[in-house]
Amino acid sequence: MAFTITKAVIPAAGLGTRFLPATKAMPKEMLPVVDKPAIQYVVEEAVNAGLTDVLMVTGRNKNALENHFDHNNELEATLKAKGDTERLKKVNYSTELADMHYVRQGNPLGLGHAVLRAKMHVGNEPFAVLLGDDIIDSRDVLLSRMLEVQAARDASVVALLEVDPSQTHMYGIATVEETDEDDVVRITGMVEKPPPGEAPSNLAIIGRYVLMPEVFRILERTEPGRGGEIQLTDALQTMAQVPEATGGVYGVVFRGRRYDTGDRADYIKAIVQLAVDRDDLGEELRPWLKDFVGTLD
Ligand code: G1P
Repeated sequence: MAFTITKAVIPAAGLGTRFLPATKAMPKEMLPVVDKPAIQYVVEEAVNAGLTDVLMVTGRNKNALENHFDHNNELEATLKAKGDTERLKKVNYSTELADMHYVRQGNPLGLGHAVLRAKMHVGNEPFAVLLGDDIIDSRDVLLSRMLEVQAARDASVVALLEVDPSQTHMYGIATVEETDEDDVVRITGMVEKPPPGEAPSNLAIIGRYVLMPEVFRILERTEPGRGGEIQLTDALQTMAQVPEATGGVYGVVFRGRRYDTGDRADYIKAIVQLAVDRDDLGEELRPWLKDFVGTLD
């Protein structure tokens, strides 16, 4: 019987400098997207795909993350006393979502280093990695499809998105071969943030990975790459080169809705896109937005 993956690793140690001063005393993962912190969307996505154990790789200044996924007894007691069951449900929801664990990254040596910090917790099993800057629309399927492909091929799997060639320098970019499945490609090479004009394709790695535990052994030997950081992309490139020893790397090409909350303009777009689709906000926002857009010329 195939092994069932239960563990998700969420790197959350970044300083969030693009959002200063908002992130001076608050982790960027706690910035609200409509009315939920960005990180909660990501944990919900992992849980919806059947993962029950979440390890966050955090750093200094990240206590709010632990608090958000823990009980707040004072708040709960107040809401209970008021009989506000609806808000109480919202407050308790994030607490009961998953079995949460935390490890600190220590030195900020890169995404590959952050993932390596999960080695003890994950052990010798395949596991998922979800990056907090990407939100995948809960109406579209990505992670569960990746888990399916991992199980069928006994290999590592990354999520790929076709991006405009002008954007390739911001992502890990993959060179691929077709497979017998329309949405699955075999990855033959990967490069982290190639300079403009030098990307081998326009298939960008977005922040979802399902990895074989061999990645830890490779990461331990991966030298700092782009930006002087230990890059996960470089370790995956090594794995793609020796499929006999590592199972190789496949890509699931995602064609659904993805929101980037990593920089300010994209973050604002994500909020607007998600809010207009909400039952409780859309009706008020849609006509207002149309009017507002009319005033822009
Ligand atoms: C990281 C990865 C990169 C990937 C991206 C997806 O970069 O290193 O390969 O394409 O996430 O969001 P970051 O955006 O953290 O610099």
